[in-house]
Amino acid sequence: MPGSSSDGTFTTKMKILIVGGTGTIGKKVAANLASRHEVITAGRTTGDLTVDITSEESIRYMFETLNVIDACICTAGTGYYGDFETMNAQDINTGIQNKLMGQINLVLIGKNYLSHDGSFTLTSGIAAEHPARNGSCVAMINGGINSFVLAAAQELKGDKRINAVSPGLVEDSRERYGAMFPGYNLVPMGKLINAYLLSVEGAVNGKILKVYS
Ligand SMILES: NC(=O)c1ccc[n+]([C@@H]2O[C@H](COP(=O)([O-])OP(=O)(O)OC[C@H]3O[C@@H](n4cnc5c(N)ncnc54)[C@H](OP(=O)(O)O)[C@@H]3O)[C@@H](O)[C@H]2O)c1
Repeated sequence: MPGSSSDGTFTTKMKILIVGGTGTIGKKVAANLASRHEVITAGRTTGDLTVDITSEESIRYMFETLNVIDACICTAGTGYYGDFETMNAQDINTGIQNKLMGQINLVLIGKNYLSHDGSFTLTSGIAAEHPARNGSCVAMINGGINSFVLAAAQELKGDKRINAVSPGLVEDSRERYGAMFPGYNLVPMGKLINAYLLSVEGAVNGKILKVYS
């Protein structure tokens, strides 16, 4: 549960779950938060806990193991990139079950394990507004995440909050993804981390925190 002292410094240590906390973005967010909080990372094959966000059963088991947490961040999830002419329903559905439903299920199941003023921070992406070539599936998924967050913020009980961080192409991913996104500005990792901190340690609710340059 967040709290501050009279000099404005952050005092209360939170128990924070980061699903995808071993990935490119997640490991940097985890390292920053770990200096002030208890951080538990989870991934499909790596992390303190293993979870597959495409499985409700796996998500439920993870939350049962953790008991109550103060914040749940998700930096896991992928969707299909490929030729529009040959893309089919199966290609699209795989991403829906992963990045979209995976994150939605973290909220639907995880809200029962979140402290009364805890927070969710999901990850969408710049493709929601500026899709790259071959990126219509991911654009749709990211837009869905953003819309879910706007609506879920109105529904969560008590003082629970939810936000989405929407990253642009992060500088650490230039080698891996740069060729797929010609003309995209590279986002400094420090600025992206700040968006996650704003969501977890701040008071914002129902926001799409865009970090595109
Ligand atoms: N990197 C960018 O420039 C960028 C830009 C815009 C948006 N984004 C979005 O930001 C998010 C994180 O991106 P990233 O580049 O940091 O990804 P990444 O480096 O590929 O890391 C993915 C993380 O998610 C975990 N993971 C993958 N599938 C999972 C599953 N089914 N269940 C649970 N955990 C799973 C991985 O753990 P294992 O390795 O153990 O599987 C890993 O910790 C993604 O949603 C991505 O679309 C990234």
